[in-house]
Amino acid sequence: MKSPVLHLVNGIPTGLVSVNDRGLRYGDGCFETMAIHNGRVPLWQRHMERLFDGCRRLAIRCEFDAGDLSREAAMLIGEQPRGVLRLTVTRGSGGRGYAPDPAESANRIMSLLPARQYPESYAADGVSVLLCKTPVTSNPLLAGIKHLNRLEQVLARNEWVNEYAEGLMSDQQGNVIEGTITNLFLVHNDEVITPGLEQCGVAGVMRAEIIQRMSRLGFSVSEKNIRIDMLKECQEGFLSNAVIGVWPIASIDGREYSIGSTTRIVQQEIKTIFPVND
Ligand SMILES: Cc1ncc(COP(=O)(O)O)c(C=O)c1O
Repeated sequence: MKSPVLHLVNGIPTGLVSVNDRGLRYGDGCFETMAIHNGRVPLWQRHMERLFDGCRRLAIRCEFDAGDLSREAAMLIGEQPRGVLRLTVTRGSGGRGYAPDPAESANRIMSLLPARQYPESYAADGVSVLLCKTPVTSNPLLAGIKHLNRLEQVLARNEWVNEYAEGLMSDQQGNVIEGTITNLFLVHNDEVITPGLEQCGVAGVMRAEIIQRMSRLGFSVSEKNIRIDMLKECQEGFLSNAVIGVWPIASIDGREYSIGSTTRIVQQEIKTIFPVND
């Protein structure tokens, strides 16, 4: 079943954007990568909140709202049950050099992509993870935002080919922050912990969903500084992302972890909204 339209730029079916677009020039914008399941985006609301919050913090002027984006998403998805929706919002094409034009309004690019097939063993048996050398830079003005500047993740992802499923990145003080495309959860001294994201990192929508659901289940999740050394002391860990769901960690830099009951509970919970792990 094919959807006839693959891209919408400002609501118009085309794959073309201006060469002057500030997203292309400076990475001046935000993006969302959303899973389509049963023809819907299960975490739509959270994606919209993060997107518009990022635009507000970057003072990107949007002349559209979540309702417009929802209609455009429905147009693109058509009758496709599964897939991925990528939404990019840039500051537009105006301004001279870095100085933005205050009158300019944002461009939005929405694309429908096929769902990427990861090996079933990733969710079932866990993934091998590399501790990357490429650091994430601290900057509280950008922390949490899923902005378009992803060079650090590109460099980190270039540290391996196929030997690992994911790489963990740390800040320059030696605190583990997140994966290249995922957020990190660990069980340490029987406590569920996840890195705080006040200085850097992407505030994942799946991370937020997991924290909320775990607290409903009676677990408290603490946001903490997690030193690289602490990884050795952890009983179990898992990675989260809005498209992949949850991957248990089988090893970090060759050090093995068993998949614990907390990870399995979270996977079961996520299946109810998002059965990607089937
Ligand atoms: C650097 C980074 N961290 C975390 C995540 C997870 O975010 P989400 O749960 O919104 O997919 C992503 C997603 O691509 C990411 O690129």
